[in-house]
Amino acid sequence: MTEDDLIAAAREAAERSYAPYSNFAVGAALAFADGSVVTGTNIENASYGLSLCAETVAVSKAMANGVRGGLVRVAVTGPGVEPITPCGRCRQVLNELAQLGGTDPEILCVGPEQTHRVKLSELLPRAFGPASLG
Ligand code: THU
Repeated sequence: MTEDDLIAAAREAAERSYAPYSNFAVGAALAFADGSVVTGTNIENASYGLSLCAETVAVSKAMANGVRGGLVRVAVTGPGVEPITPCGRCRQVLNELAQLGGTDPEILCVGPEQTHRVKLSELLPRAFGPASLG
């Protein structure tokens, strides 16, 4: 799966966004070491605070399928003019899956004109994770 393919998968996922309140359709695509890809999109709720981000939905889908590591790359797309970066909660949720497999995934923050590449450990330094519980 190339970088462009992963970004395309995230954009395709965003087409299935349920975001009637923000009208801000986000897509996420997780790439794993075995070549598999799991996507997610944001799912909002009439009780606004219960809305789920695209990255959280993607991680939940993967973990519900039994995945427990191997996360090597993540693409996140949004409708804004700037590349979108995962929110704080999603950084923590991504970190759980990443730490389980001992990886530090590259996060592709995708905008209409440019893509920022950053490691998860840069977005969430000194992360609290499974290993922190001893
Ligand atoms: N959103 C995501 O899906 N991922 C992020 O990392 C940031 C925000 C969603 C949540 C909400 O449905 C919409 O974008 C506007 O905040």
